[in-house]
Amino acid sequence: MVYSDLSTMMERRWLWWCVVVVVGMVGGARGALDIEAWKGEEPLTPERIVREVVEYFSQRDPHGIPVLKVPESIELPDRVSASQITLWDLKISGHSGLRLEHVNVNLTSFSGKVKISLPVINLQGQYSWPGWFSTSQGATNVTMVGIEVTVDLYLGVNSDGILNLDDLKITLTYDDLILDFENLSTQHSVLVSTADVFFGTFIQPLIIGSAQEKLMDTVNQRLQKKMKDMPFPNSISPIDYAIAKVRREIRKQNLDPVKLGRKDDTLAWGISLQLKDIELEGLATIHRTHEISAQFIDNAVFITIQLGTQELQGGSDWSMSAALLPAVEGHLNILIESLEVTIDLKQPVNIRSPPTLRKIDIRLGNLAVRSTGEGSMDYLLEAFVNIVPNALRNVIMDNIEPRIQQIIQKRLNGLDLYRMVLDILAERRRQQRNKQRQVQRIP
Ligand SMILES: *[C@@H]1O[C@H](CO)[C@@H](O)[C@H](O)[C@H]1NC(C)=O
Ligand SMILES: *[C@@H]1O[C@H](CO)[C@@H](O)[C@H](O)[C@H]1NC(C)=O
Ligand SMILES: *[C@@H]1O[C@H](CO)[C@@H](O)[C@H](O)[C@H]1NC(C)=O
Repeated sequence: MVYSDLSTMMERRWLWWCVVVVVGMVGGARGALDIEAWKGEEPLTPERIVREVVEYFSQRDPHGIPVLKVPESIELPDRVSASQITLWDLKISGHSGLRLEHVNVNLTSFSGKVKISLPVINLQGQYSWPGWFSTSQGATNVTMVGIEVTVDLYLGVNSDGILNLDDLKITLTYDDLILDFENLSTQHSVLVSTADVFFGTFIQPLIIGSAQEKLMDTVNQRLQKKMKDMPFPNSISPIDYAIAKVRREIRKQNLDPVKLGRKDDTLAWGISLQLKDIELEGLATIHRTHEISAQFIDNAVFITIQLGTQELQGGSDWSMSAALLPAVEGHLNILIESLEVTIDLKQPVNIRSPPTLRKIDIRLGNLAVRSTGEGSMDYLLEAFVNIVPNALRNVIMDNIEPRIQQIIQKRLNGLDLYRMVLDILAERRRQQRNKQRQVQRIP
C-alpha cells in the first residue's frame, strides 16, 4: 500500500514537474499555450496517467514528456518579455530530450530534490531590444546545451497545522549557450558576446524568477486545499505523527499483543518442535529510529525505512518430541529489550514488477528467556539463551536475516501493485460518483 501510494504520488509529481519545467522554460508564458490539445482525445483520468507513466518508465531510456503529446516544436502565441527584450513568434524545441535524472524524498528532514536534464533546447523567433541610440530588431536563434535543472524543496507545517512548502529553489546550469541575434546594435552585441552575462541578466531571472514563485504558490494552494482536513501538530515532524497514527491503529486492531497461532518445526536428528499460542506484545511501541527516505534513480524508487520498538515480550507454549524419547513441554517467555529494523526496498516505477527487498537488518537489544515446564529441559533452554552473550545474538540474527528476507520477498513477489493502484483509483471514482449522485438528490 505504502509503496503504491508513494509511486503514484511520485509519478504524478513527475508529470506535473515536466509540465511546469517546460512551461517555466518557455518563460512566463501566460497560460495561452494550448495544453488542452496536448492531452489527446481520451480524457486525462488518473487511471490513464498511471497507465501511461508506467508505460513511459518501462522503456529502456525514458525521455520526453510522459502522457502529454507535445509537438516537437511548441509555438508560443504570446509575446514574452525578458528584461528589456521582447520576443514573439516563438518556437521552442528540444523538450523530447527531457529526462528525470533523480528524485530524493527525505521524510526525515522533510525535504526533496528533483533533478531534470535536457541535452538541448532551442528557441527561435523575432525580438526587439530598445537601446540608447537605436532599437535592435530581427530574428533570433538561442540554443542552450547540456542543461540541468535542480529543484530543492523544503516542507514544513505552518501555524494552522497545514503542510506547506517553506522554500523552493530552482538551480539551472548549462554547458553552452549559443546566442544568435540578427541585426544587433553595437551596444547590444557587447552584451550578447558574453553568454554567461546574458544568461545571468536575461534568462536566469526569466525562467527561475517567475517559475520559482509560481511553483511555490501553486503547490501551497494545492496543499492548503487538499490538506486542510488533515492538520498536523507542529510540535513533532509529520512523519513521526504518521507513525503515531500507526501505533494507534495497531492498538485499535488488537495487534498488541498480537496472536501468531502455532508453528511446527522439525529440527535436526528427527526432533520436532511445536509452538502453540505464540503471542507477542509491544508492537504498539513502534517508532522511527533513524531515517525514512525514498530516492528515484534509474527508473526505480529506492526506499529506506528504519523503525524500532521498545521492549517486546513474546510467549509460547512449546512441546518437543523425538522418535525414541518421551515428549517434553513447557511455557517459554522471551523478553527483548528493544528491536531495530532497517529495510531497503527497491520498487521499479514500472509497478507491474514487484518490489525487491534489498536488505533487512535486524538488531536486537538484550534478551532474557524464562521457561516454566519440566525441570531439566527448562534449565537447558534458559541456560542456552541466557548464556549466549548478547553480542552474539546479532551475529545469530545476521544468519537468520537472509531467510527472513526470502520469506518476505516471496510475499512481495505476489504483490500486483499495478492492479492495486488501478483498483484504488476505480474505487475512488465510484465513491465520487456516488457522492455526486447524493448531492444531486438532496435539493
Ligand atoms: C535524510 O535526512 C537526514 C537528516 O537530515 C540525513 O541524516 C539523511 O542522510 C538523509 N537521507 C538521504 C537519503 O538523503
Ligand atoms: C535592423 O534594425 C533596424 C534598426 O532598428 C531596422 O530598421 C531594420 O528593419 C532591422 N532589420 C531587420 C532585417 O530586421
Ligand atoms: C540556430 O542555431 C543552432 C545552433 O547554433 C543551429 O544549429 C541552427 O541551424 C540555427 N537555426 C537557424 C534557423 O538558424
